[in-house]
Amino acid sequence: MSSSTPVFPPAAEMEILFSKQQIADRTREIGAQISADYKGQSIVLIGVLKGAAIFLADLARAIQVDNTFDFVAVSSYGRARVSSGAVKLIKDIDNPIEGKHVIIVEDILDTGLTLSYLRGLMLQHKPASLKIATCLDKPERRLVPIEADYIAFKIPNQFVIGYGMDYAERYRGVEDIRIFPAEVAGH
Ligand code: XMP
Ligand code: MG
Repeated sequence: MSSSTPVFPPAAEMEILFSKQQIADRTREIGAQISADYKGQSIVLIGVLKGAAIFLADLARAIQVDNTFDFVAVSSYGRARVSSGAVKLIKDIDNPIEGKHVIIVEDILDTGLTLSYLRGLMLQHKPASLKIATCLDKPERRLVPIEADYIAFKIPNQFVIGYGMDYAERYRGVEDIRIFPAEVAGH
């Protein structure tokens, strides 16, 4: 085996940052907040594939106002843990959002490059309003000024997996959010 073969330690050995229960509680709180903020209106949730798929699924069910959802996909980190800075759209929205109340749903707001790119792109479609909901926020890592309107948890600069988030496509189905060992991520 070459030294570049990825190592995938069992998730059960990794420290839990947020438990399944903590995530469920926060998602319900954000759902209630969104429901209050958009009372009597319809919203479109736009999930960023693939990381935000699970958060979006839970959030959509925690929102009491009329909602539909769509997905976009952008070029990702792949197996590397550091962003190249280049963001590219791989999959656009399926339905028009002009005049609609839109919330972009992300797994992590990290450097901010992905969400600033997506926000600019979505604004070109002339939505009635545009907000951002993110499961995690790593404010320390920001390279461009952008903030989310709804944040489940702020975290320090640690690489995490689970609840939709991956390391080399693994661990997305892990139910809680765990800290991926830095010594493995950094190899
Ligand atoms: P930027 O840096 O553009 O990127 O804000 C946000 C995207 O980076 C990915 N990302 C992570 N993915 N664990 C992951 O599984 C992490 O700790 C992590 N930090 C950033 C993520 O895809 C997010 O959408
Ligand atoms: Mg992502």
